[in-house]
Amino acid sequence: MSNLAAQLQELQTEAASAIASVHDLAALEQERVAYLGKKGKLSQILRGMGKLSAEERPQIGAIANEVKTTIQTDLEARRDRLEQAQIAAQLAAETLDVTMPGVARPLGRIHPLNSIIDRVIEIFVGLGYTVAEGYEMESDYYNFEALNTPPEHPARDMQDTFYLPDGNLLRTHTSSVQIRHMEQNDPPLRIIAPGRVYRRDTVDATHSAVFHQVEILAIDKGLTFTDLKGTLKEFVRQMFGEELAMLFRASYFPFTEPSAEVDVQWEGKWLEVLGCGMVDPNVLKAVGYDPEIYSGFAAGLGVERFAMVLHHIDDIRRLYSSDLRFLNQF
Ligand code: DAH
Repeated sequence: MSNLAAQLQELQTEAASAIASVHDLAALEQERVAYLGKKGKLSQILRGMGKLSAEERPQIGAIANEVKTTIQTDLEARRDRLEQAQIAAQLAAETLDVTMPGVARPLGRIHPLNSIIDRVIEIFVGLGYTVAEGYEMESDYYNFEALNTPPEHPARDMQDTFYLPDGNLLRTHTSSVQIRHMEQNDPPLRIIAPGRVYRRDTVDATHSAVFHQVEILAIDKGLTFTDLKGTLKEFVRQMFGEELAMLFRASYFPFTEPSAEVDVQWEGKWLEVLGCGMVDPNVLKAVGYDPEIYSGFAAGLGVERFAMVLHHIDDIRRLYSSDLRFLNQF
């Protein structure tokens, strides 16, 4: 047998033992390149074929092909085994004992105040409103002055205010968002603004220094008190899940004219649920809207009040106490 044939046989034996001693896929790939790659050992041997005679060449070619196929087969068999071993090792490492006792993770719940706010938002979004936000720290201008409540205005006494050392204040109502939103947007608009508000009230069963309101504002051409009533009626129907008798009582707010407070008949009692009215022309002027062209209505509702009524809560302080025995009921 020619020298080349012997070299090829030797190569096959050498490759077989090299492949058998490899223990990971990267090393296996290195062996493949070393033996079968373009510059590998097989190619190097075959370079000598040019010197062969015409009869020898096909014989050696046939042996070379066989050797190549054998090495390929060895490589594949080894790759299969290594892959199987890898999967087996991974499975062993990730074994899960499904008979072990689990770790209990009690489900959290939405706080009753948040779920009321969510519900109010849902209803008004259904009526075409979008949600707007303002700031809890406000200037006198946005909380009072632009809302037609200049300094010394007696209506300021209605809302005992926390003033901050820098002259700003903690907003006493979400009505400040009306001004902020109208300053930044052109009419027509329909927004609701949920948020936290602050008053220097003595805390008792029905008062808290921090509470929540949802402000409602609609501005358009030709809006009337009838639109306000229709909107609130639909809101109350969805909120309480039934058509309730509603009482619009004349009232006073500096930023609306006329103004009203709304009571609903709930479980045999009249219950005040919100303040509302037609936006005062002075408020429209303060944000650069022309009151001859645009009109609008606004309302502000107390979230705690709704929570107390809907859930029969006797003391507002329960809503803030984070007592799980209380909160788990919702
Ligand atoms: N801001 C009022 C308050 O906190 C509630 C209110 C009344 C809001 C009438 C309004 C409104 O938008 O039109 O007492």
